[in-house]
Amino acid sequence: MMHRGKVHLVGSGPGDPELLTLKAARLIAGAGVVVFDRLVGESILDLLPAGARRMDVGKETGRHAVPQAEINRLLVGLAMDGHDVVRLKGGDPFIFGRGGEEAQALAAAGIPFEVVPGITAASGCAAASGIPLTLRGIAEGVRLVTGHRQDDGDLDLDWASLADPRCTLVVYMGVASAERMAAGLVGAGLPADTPVAIIERGTTPEQRTWVSRLGCLTADMERWAPKPPALLVIGRVVDHAVVSGWPALAEAAQ
Ligand SMILES: C[S@@+](CC[C@H](N)C(=O)[O-])C[C@H]1O[C@@H](n2cnc3c(N)ncnc32)[C@H](O)[C@@H]1O
Repeated sequence: MMHRGKVHLVGSGPGDPELLTLKAARLIAGAGVVVFDRLVGESILDLLPAGARRMDVGKETGRHAVPQAEINRLLVGLAMDGHDVVRLKGGDPFIFGRGGEEAQALAAAGIPFEVVPGITAASGCAAASGIPLTLRGIAEGVRLVTGHRQDDGDLDLDWASLADPRCTLVVYMGVASAERMAAGLVGAGLPADTPVAIIERGTTPEQRTWVSRLGCLTADMERWAPKPPALLVIGRVVDHAVVSGWPALAEAAQ
């Protein structure tokens, strides 16, 4: 019987190559075939061996450059042909990365695989901005949600459950829907002066961070026009951001 390859679903973290896990770094350094997303930056791709076969299935904003079903078929096909594959994904493969769908497709096809977790954008961006996602007496929990609308429809979120002043909300893919997000949360009772940090390209040398409030988020976002990838951190912890040497994040920084 033909040898089947193994697929490693590898999280590459939020951008800074030093935030790779040792396991991810080892797999990247020894990769023969790599299938990667748009979120994976050059500084991480630079760690691939010169002879590695690179397959870019990167996603454009708002649509998938290569449809997910095709990516699934590609991974299965490469493994069936005997290749060991490093499937490199931004952040953590199982957090808004469609790694779950890829794992299901591999399992259904009987392909051996392993999932290598990565630092997700919420942790990376919060740490790089000095925002403690939980803080005793301020935030007892964190919720990770997507601001991406299915087929460009309305944002279908449970506003009543999200509007919890004691829980930090981290919104992935939330730039385009920030106005709807702010209206939904304030409409459900979250105070309009709740702070919002917007973090663009967190953990990279190009990181930019701004601080707004739910009540003026729409106007601020229009003014700042953050570019992808960017993340929103909503909650009182933003007012408690600490960087080495204090002070906290400046209001409407930059
Ligand atoms: C398709 S999701 C993938 C998330 C990824 N699996 C993770 O665990 O971080 C892409 C979104 O993650 C967020 N993101 C990823 N990396 C980021 C970074 N370095 N800075 C800010 N946001 C980031 C953005 O909201 C972006 O639109």
